[in-house]
Amino acid sequence: MISKPKGTVDLTDKKARCWKYVEEVIDSVMEKYNYNYIRTPIFEASELFHRGIGDSTDIVTKETYDFKDRGDRSITLRPEGTAGVVRSYIENKMYGKNNLPVKVYYNGTMYRYERPQKGRLRELSQYGVEVLGSTDPMMDAEVISLAYNINKMLGLTDTVVHINSLGDKESRDKYREALKSYFKPHLDDLCDDCKERFDKNPLRIIDCKIDSNKDYFKDAPNILDYLNKESKEHFEKVCEYLDILEVKYVIDPKIVRGLDYYNHTVFELMTEESNLALGGGGRYDNLVSTLDGPETSCVGYAVGLDRLVDLLMEKELTTNVRDYIDAFIMYVNEDEKKNAIYLANELRMSGFVVETEYTKKSLKSQFKRADYFNSKYLILLNSDDLNEGLVTIKNNKTKEEEKIMMEYIIYYFDEHISDDNLPIDYHNHDEEEV
Ligand code: HAM
Repeated sequence: MISKPKGTVDLTDKKARCWKYVEEVIDSVMEKYNYNYIRTPIFEASELFHRGIGDSTDIVTKETYDFKDRGDRSITLRPEGTAGVVRSYIENKMYGKNNLPVKVYYNGTMYRYERPQKGRLRELSQYGVEVLGSTDPMMDAEVISLAYNINKMLGLTDTVVHINSLGDKESRDKYREALKSYFKPHLDDLCDDCKERFDKNPLRIIDCKIDSNKDYFKDAPNILDYLNKESKEHFEKVCEYLDILEVKYVIDPKIVRGLDYYNHTVFELMTEESNLALGGGGRYDNLVSTLDGPETSCVGYAVGLDRLVDLLMEKELTTNVRDYIDAFIMYVNEDEKKNAIYLANELRMSGFVVETEYTKKSLKSQFKRADYFNSKYLILLNSDDLNEGLVTIKNNKTKEEEKIMMEYIIYYFDEHISDDNLPIDYHNHDEEEV
């Protein structure tokens, strides 16, 4: 037997339906906020991620899937969606059409060579949004509340956004120096990764999983004390707007994020149950120009769909995920089978979820299969009834049975399943026109 590669998952059964439901909620909320769907390639030129995400980040140094294609080009499977969207924005010249800010969202697989564990996959899925072309803190707040509201719509009422500001370059440079002076005496005590980060990216020492519980971390400099006036004002506005939008958030100076492109606002979505972030993002005002596009301020986030769906399943927040079918059509002989084929088609085309028998099983096995699919109704076909234009419908819960005219079956289901109370007597063929 060939097994799936390490760090990948098969999505099946109820979890697959939950996933599709989550995608439907995302699509419908994005529409209300006027974000356009965008799809970019799963593989891109390696350089895009080296320049975009940052040469010293864990993602680029340790986690990318890189290969040479048959034309000797360096290719990387995308580890995240932002760099590809920015590349597409520049390449397709999406700017300059009175359309700024451009608001897009995506949903797809990403690839990171991480150590697989719960919530950490090598093939992971994210949905994300990117807004290109606005410096306004209102945009940061909209993006954060969009993520928050989608969680809320899915039933995750305990989402808390951990938010921080990395300020502009001037503020960050000052903070970086302060961090280096603070950690210098502890350099020997830091983990190997942090020793490297000390020169390349000292901000990441702050959220180190290994070191951050050490005593001397408590008094480490706080980024918020190093924000200049402009950066401080931007952050205060974001918080003010988040209050208007009734987003639950906490200011958390430990949020520095693992990708290099951020400035000003950064945030992560947490819930009480999840010790892993469900999502994260922030403002990135320099990425477009780093990738040779025009100066463009951007903000965005991505949420891990695998983590999100796992959490919904664990918390049983799946009442909107269909776990039944409307009807199972049962038959035995060829004549009944033809009627089953006809009826299944009619009902499905009218919007009902219908299953029937395909393998010539006994009625007993058909009952079992109907139960497996949690069928609300059974439609029992037998030749004698069919000759009189009748079918038997059994409510699979109450076990009540009734015979109705086959030609009225859609109306019957409309009334019993769709809650459309049509005034009709299904039992009498001579009843008034419906
Ligand atoms: P990120 O924090 O690297 O940000 O990833 C966002 C989310 O993707 C995480 O919070 C997590 O839920 C999920 N995720 C990341 N790695 C894994 C993994 N190995 N297994 C399962 N889930 C994972 C970004 O990717 C940025 N591009 C977000 C962004 C968009 N910033 C601005 N715009």
